[in-house]
Amino acid sequence: MDVPVHDVLIVGGGGAGLRAAIAIAEENPEITVAVISKVYPMRSHTVAAEGGAAAVIKGNDSLDDHAYDTISGSDWLADQDAVEVLVSEAPGEMIQMEHWGCPWSREPEGEVAVRPFGGMQTERTWYAADKTGFHMLHTLFQTSLKFDSIVRYDEWFVTGLVVEDGRPQGVTAIELKSGEVHAIGAKAVILCTGGAGRVYPFTTNSAIKTGDGMALAYRAGVPLKDMEFVQYHPTGLPGTGILITEAARGEGGILVNRDGYRYLQDYDLGEPLDLDDPLHPQKRTMELGPRDRLSQAFIHERAQGRTIDGPHGDYVNLDLTHLGERTITRKIPMVRELAVRYVGVDPVTEPIPVRTVVHYMMGGIDTDVEARTLLPGLFAAGECACVSVNGANRLGSNSLTELLVYGRRAARSAAQFVGEAPDVSLATLRTEQEAARQRISDWLSTGSSGDDTVAGLRSILNDTLEEGAGIFRDESSLQRACDGIRDLKQRFEKVRLTDTSATFNYELTAALELENMLDVGEAIAHSALARTESRGSHQRTDHPERDDERFLNHSLAYQTDREPRIDYRDVVITRWPPGKRTYGTD
Ligand code: FUM
Repeated sequence: MDVPVHDVLIVGGGGAGLRAAIAIAEENPEITVAVISKVYPMRSHTVAAEGGAAAVIKGNDSLDDHAYDTISGSDWLADQDAVEVLVSEAPGEMIQMEHWGCPWSREPEGEVAVRPFGGMQTERTWYAADKTGFHMLHTLFQTSLKFDSIVRYDEWFVTGLVVEDGRPQGVTAIELKSGEVHAIGAKAVILCTGGAGRVYPFTTNSAIKTGDGMALAYRAGVPLKDMEFVQYHPTGLPGTGILITEAARGEGGILVNRDGYRYLQDYDLGEPLDLDDPLHPQKRTMELGPRDRLSQAFIHERAQGRTIDGPHGDYVNLDLTHLGERTITRKIPMVRELAVRYVGVDPVTEPIPVRTVVHYMMGGIDTDVEARTLLPGLFAAGECACVSVNGANRLGSNSLTELLVYGRRAARSAAQFVGEAPDVSLATLRTEQEAARQRISDWLSTGSSGDDTVAGLRSILNDTLEEGAGIFRDESSLQRACDGIRDLKQRFEKVRLTDTSATFNYELTAALELENMLDVGEAIAHSALARTESRGSHQRTDHPERDDERFLNHSLAYQTDREPRIDYRDVVITRWPPGKRTYGTD
């Protein structure tokens, strides 16, 4: 196969990637678009999103309220120009999804239904029961099939970005079914590869979320922004980490500790109007506080000995029994299904055991509001990118919205770029293809000599990050994480591969993913070490206060031959000066 060339190559076939592909195809059918993905697009992690996507729709809501909630929820680290773009383009994107067939849940009168979500002053989360991501991804995938200008490379693993003359020329990639290494040329590349939750041991993220796009950009000299901000979701199932959606709390579920006590009332999250009535309409209080605060409260409960011991670690209970079977089955059927199947509990009659779990990376590839990176011709959108709308703590249901809004923006920018870009260099692509082929071939033939396995090193990386850069961190824990990752990178050079086969060699792709995770983990640990303040999800026990004097800025981690260099860039403030985060009482 000679080197195929497209105008735009999108890496990742999830929500952001497919939204971008459709936007380019609609904008100009003459532009050729390819989507390359290590999994079949419908297996992308967007499919696992449950609770919903935020956009203003109700008369009592406003774009300014959505922006304010997002910015205060971010602990004032979000760029306010990016947030204003997000909230203003969100309603149009949601209606567009409806027109493409997304089955949004409805009110009895036929209007689109919205539910309350954490940190939002009012109900603005659109949903499709509790399978929102599944329906959104289906909608985008089937829509993408209408366009002849979109071609797909399903189950191809990208091994490197080809960069020359200061711009991307395409990628090198393994076709997984044959094991052959190819180069694919493109004048513009959009990275839409999702997050990197798998760098931690306990996560809601599927096994594919290994930070691949982040690592590709980082190695190409593009900084990773705000990587110290890692979101823990308060309600994962013990053992598997499977998400129990925030929608369960949006519908009225409450969290209780080992004494059956609704402990969040002790954590400065506001009080509901009537504590004994969990279904009382309440705004941004307690269980609907922001995720960073709820996850930190879990750790405090643990420290007080008020969590419950279980075979997969300690937990608290999420009680939905007061909602009744009809609400549970109509509004959150998958919560019931997951609880029954994975922990043997029917939430209609018993509380669900839950614990904090890594869910989302607020940080990612540094982009501007047009989804551009510092490398002309390279764009990024979705969880792999950091534009930044999420700052130090994302509000639940903003990420599905973000991937639509910024997926489309990335497409628009890439389409503009290819109109003026010169042709790609086939000679460079062939040279890079040969280099990538040689590397894989050497690795498969000689890589069986070391002592370390891929799984072994990955497990140490996971523990290193959880212990060093978990919900609470300090200088010594973070320094240990930085040192540990440096050591792991050296050990990785001699990682043992035992499977030398060509077809679907998942040991090989796991090794490549681990290489990416080590780069992402390095950026997380070093960025967190350098930020000597506490903000949102980044809680330094040795620096417990927010420090706007020194740290109202984004960290930018650049890869170097040694440890990463951390620079900073000021946060963009448009209309909302930094303030105190208050919940329930403002
Ligand atoms: O709980 C949830 O359904 C998660 C939503 C989100 O992360 O946006």
